[in-house]
Amino acid sequence: MDIQAHQFIAFFEAEQAQQLCEIATLVEFSDRAIIFEEGEIPDFLYLVLNGQVLFRKRITDQHYQVVARAIPDDFFGEFGILDGQPRSAQALVCEGATLAKIPRRVLVEILNNTRSSAILKLFRYVIQRLRVTTEDYVRQIAHKDKMVLVGEMVNTIIHDLKSPLSGIQLASGMVKEMHIDEETVEWCDLIQIQAHRMTAMAEELLEFARGSAALEKRPIVLADLFRRFEKLNRIYLSQENIALKIDCPDDLVINADENKLMRVIQNLVVNAVEAFNSHEGRIEITALQQGDRVKIRLQDNGPGIPCEIRETFFESFVTHGKKSGTGLGTAIAKSVIDAHRGEIYFETADGVGTTFFISLPL
Ligand SMILES: Nc1ncnc2c1ncn2[C@@H]1O[C@H](COP(=O)(O)OP(=O)(O)OP(=O)(O)O)[C@@H](O)[C@H]1O
Ligand SMILES: [Mg+2]
Repeated sequence: MDIQAHQFIAFFEAEQAQQLCEIATLVEFSDRAIIFEEGEIPDFLYLVLNGQVLFRKRITDQHYQVVARAIPDDFFGEFGILDGQPRSAQALVCEGATLAKIPRRVLVEILNNTRSSAILKLFRYVIQRLRVTTEDYVRQIAHKDKMVLVGEMVNTIIHDLKSPLSGIQLASGMVKEMHIDEETVEWCDLIQIQAHRMTAMAEELLEFARGSAALEKRPIVLADLFRRFEKLNRIYLSQENIALKIDCPDDLVINADENKLMRVIQNLVVNAVEAFNSHEGRIEITALQQGDRVKIRLQDNGPGIPCEIRETFFESFVTHGKKSGTGLGTAIAKSVIDAHRGEIYFETADGVGTTFFISLPL
């Protein structure tokens, strides 16, 4: 956009507006450029003409939290200009931006000679922004509290689950030793694997709540992972009347965390099954290599993802139409794919179905 059309300039009378346009310098910033750091003494007001700027507060040495963002027609840095206090956050360019910067000294002079209507408009803007930031902040705190609760809850669950689960493992191990026919051994193995999965699942949930999903990557044959998935879910899927078709080349090897990848597929498939709501359905998983990436497609012919949650789909606690949904399944799936430096997105249509696309580096 043009500086003349910017809302900040429009706050002022013609003469001052022109003065501001003349003293403003246009600067092009590249992606990830830092405009100012937290704690710096303010010297300019910035008008965003193109692109996007993120404001981040430092949480730890390497960790920042985005607290706000500015897009074209927004301006920032006005707090420092008005009260002279150090910058409260770092301003970082996201994918390039064009800004007009106005020096503090000149701006303060112009403001001193400005009619109250301009000041009032500026004041209104500042208050409105404060309100948005406060709401955002409250939302983030509430979210964090929920995650802490999930963590505590899972901790208790893991603790309480451990002894009955080891009982199940022990008992199935004994049955296996007493009845060595092939079929019994196979069922007992399945019981033991599932019991082990339950503890692993609870532990993964705990990691997710703590935000510390460390990966245990090793080369895995993707087709083997799908075969294992099919075996573990055969009974569940047939009880739910779901036909599962998997198509994956046998020689596709990927460096990934097998259990976590399994969790992603599990969460997405369970969601699809639940969406069928006891009706017959079909789920198709295909995987193939494309250059140095693996593309996995998971398609169902269910009702489609409800419109209300499409925008926020991968966020924690977004759930819809389930009695006991926690809304963590897809958030966990996304965190796992992100940790692998992969991508996940979906296409969905009412009454036609949903397709998830996952792309992972080999
Ligand atoms: N394949 C799908 N088809 C239709 N709706 C879906 C599909 N997958 C997810 N959804 C919708 O998205 C919501 C969010 O899914 P998510 O897995 O994150 O949470 P949840 O299933 O509600 O709870 P949780 O997985 O934590 O038990 C679901 O409640 C459901 O309404
Ligand atoms: Mg789910």
